[in-house]
Amino acid sequence: MMTPDLDKSIVEHAYARWAPIYDAICGPVMLKGRRAAAAEARSLGGKILEVGVGTGLSFDDYDHTTEITGIDLCEPMLEKARAKMATGRYPWVKGVQVMDAHRMAFPDATFDCVVAQFVITLVANPEQVLSECHRVVKPGGRIILVNHLYSEVGVAAAVERWTAQRTRGLGLRPEFPFARLQAWAQSNKDAILVERRKIAPFGIYTLVCFERTPAPLAA
Ligand SMILES: C[S@@+](CC[C@H](N)C(=O)[O-])C[C@H]1O[C@@H](n2cnc3c(N)ncnc32)[C@H](O)[C@@H]1O
Repeated sequence: MMTPDLDKSIVEHAYARWAPIYDAICGPVMLKGRRAAAAEARSLGGKILEVGVGTGLSFDDYDHTTEITGIDLCEPMLEKARAKMATGRYPWVKGVQVMDAHRMAFPDATFDCVVAQFVITLVANPEQVLSECHRVVKPGGRIILVNHLYSEVGVAAAVERWTAQRTRGLGLRPEFPFARLQAWAQSNKDAILVERRKIAPFGIYTLVCFERTPAPLAA
């Protein structure tokens, strides 16, 4: 049995509490997943939107070939990201701002790539967020997600279901199925699922990549 999607205010409050300790705890634990997603985005280069950028832990994973814009629901998380920007070490980060991924203020086809690391399972309406990401990415551009996804069978699945009931207030959701991401792509004629890959060494995190169908060549 899957738990319902998380409520926006639960997530906002949970991450306001996470902000002071987030880098110390989630920095090392999620490092491999975060790096894998950023490396994929960096290989495309150009204008990259980080949805749920949080404290800006990924800033180190980009370089001058990219221009990073970050959005997040939670101001205390963004304050940490702004402190990193103020060091001057990340000239490729153009800016971060409070914005809900369900309703982004960017025009259509603004970015070459949209990255969401450890975000899609937490949002109130994952399909709506995917559609927003799809809207703001250029034709031929990609949406790159990384997350822990539901194991679906065996002991791991049982543990995830048990944990799910107890960690909602922390803004965590360990039992979100891949099938939901796949179904979104299947229901959108311009979205192609191009990659689903477990991240080494333990395969705890999965990288999922969608492409927006390239615009047809002019005759
Ligand atoms: C687990 S943290 C991941 C942060 C960062 N991507 C990382 O890898 O360290 C999830 C982030 O998503 C943000 N978030 C959750 N729902 C959101 C929404 N609807 N719009 C924008 N950000 C959201 C949270 O505030 C939080 O900062």
